[in-house]
Amino acid sequence: MPNDTLTIKDNRTGRSYEIPINDNAIRANDLKKIKVDDDDFGLMTYDPAFLGTAACRSSITYIDGDKGILRYRGYPIEQLAEQSTFLEVAYLLNHGELPNQEQLKHWTDELTSHTYVHTNITKFLEGFRYDAHPMGMLLGAVSALSTFYPDAKNIADPKNRYLQRIRLLAKAPTIAAFAFRHSRGLPFVFPDNDFDYIGNFVNMTFSIGGRHKPNKVLQRALEVLFILHADHEQNCSTNAIRAVGSSHVDLFSAVSAGIAALYGPLHGGANEAVLNMLDEIDSVKNIPDFIRGVKAGERRLMGFGHRVYKSYDPRAKLIKEIAYEVFEQTGLNPKLDIALELERIALEDDYFITRKLYPNVDFYSGLIYQAMGYPTEFFTVLFALGRMPGWLAQWEEMVIDSEQKISRPRQIYIGSDERPYVPMGKRQSTVSAEAG
Ligand code: ACO
Repeated sequence: MPNDTLTIKDNRTGRSYEIPINDNAIRANDLKKIKVDDDDFGLMTYDPAFLGTAACRSSITYIDGDKGILRYRGYPIEQLAEQSTFLEVAYLLNHGELPNQEQLKHWTDELTSHTYVHTNITKFLEGFRYDAHPMGMLLGAVSALSTFYPDAKNIADPKNRYLQRIRLLAKAPTIAAFAFRHSRGLPFVFPDNDFDYIGNFVNMTFSIGGRHKPNKVLQRALEVLFILHADHEQNCSTNAIRAVGSSHVDLFSAVSAGIAALYGPLHGGANEAVLNMLDEIDSVKNIPDFIRGVKAGERRLMGFGHRVYKSYDPRAKLIKEIAYEVFEQTGLNPKLDIALELERIALEDDYFITRKLYPNVDFYSGLIYQAMGYPTEFFTVLFALGRMPGWLAQWEEMVIDSEQKISRPRQIYIGSDERPYVPMGKRQSTVSAEAG
């Protein structure tokens, strides 16, 4: 037995057990041998929301939440944000190394040749109501891609998996831009492969009567935002993709589960929720009353708090810098004053200090997206585009991990014990609360 072990004494039986510790973790399955008697299933860990459970081994992203560190494949996020392009980062996440010139050209060419979507996907998008939420459209269209590429079911073939990843990374901006145009009643603008990845997306989104003339500062800001969002280890959406993908469904279906998870206001939907919150606060003078409501537990300060970061979110720091660069081009977002004052008050307040609540990636990103001309409901779609390379890399890592099996947590059953079936005529006639 190695020295790195945990000795557990079961006071129910008086027996002691020695459990190996590897990488600062014990295997939950090793606890199964701790039983009261032979009929006992064995000891389980109870961990709703995975607060203290590692569900995989991963070499993609490293986070130290206490120190505010985020690295992709070992490279600090600050350096990537300053020096890299989004496609280099996407390559890094998916291949493990930064590309050389030739590799980057090949990667870019591959992505460029898959940007078009089948005409029926455009018809599918046209079928949504004029006011459909673009995240719902993205979610539906990505899941529909699985019906256009039935070959994606062959997840055992690495070449096939690679092709599907390229397809999704290439088509996601096209679908997102079409969703944007649909909500504005504008005709779709098809991919123009003379543009780079970000430029193409911006052109498909904003072009009216000819090619869009990009503002280079805004375009680079969008690219940096995408880089900052590109992966974040086992967050809610990535975990959804891994869990759904563990059933060996195709990539498109698995990623649509991640898009659904990201849509929620506690996850990627928070950037939209922040803007709605700032609208609701309306003026700096209403902030004290708003904070009082937050502290009374009536609501949350959206864009604050994080499961992992407990000192600061390094992405939020970088995003705040980008915000000022963008506002120099676009003029100040009038809601910036409210956001800054909220942040100032929250960072000085005991409620937030003791709970280690700091601005997260979503606190300022919405203000930037709004200044760039994106409507509020489109913010989470932008997050999804940025996160796509990470989702693809995490899915691939899950598929090739020989330790992974179909994801299937256990439960602690707290329902009725066995009881005999009650025929209809003998059931109580009281109306249940939920039926009104
Ligand atoms: N506003 C007010 N109070 C908060 C907030 C918040 N934003 N976040 C957490 N708290 C409080 C909780 O009420 C709780 O207080 P209590 O101990 O008195 O009950 C305490 O802080 C701990 O909160 P948990 O909910 O246990 O923290 P958890 O790690 O589960 O939640 C989460 C993390 C979901 C991000 C949470 O902080 C939150 O809801 N934030 C607002 C939504 C948001 O911005 N989400 C984006 C996260 S980043 C991303 O997903 C891309």
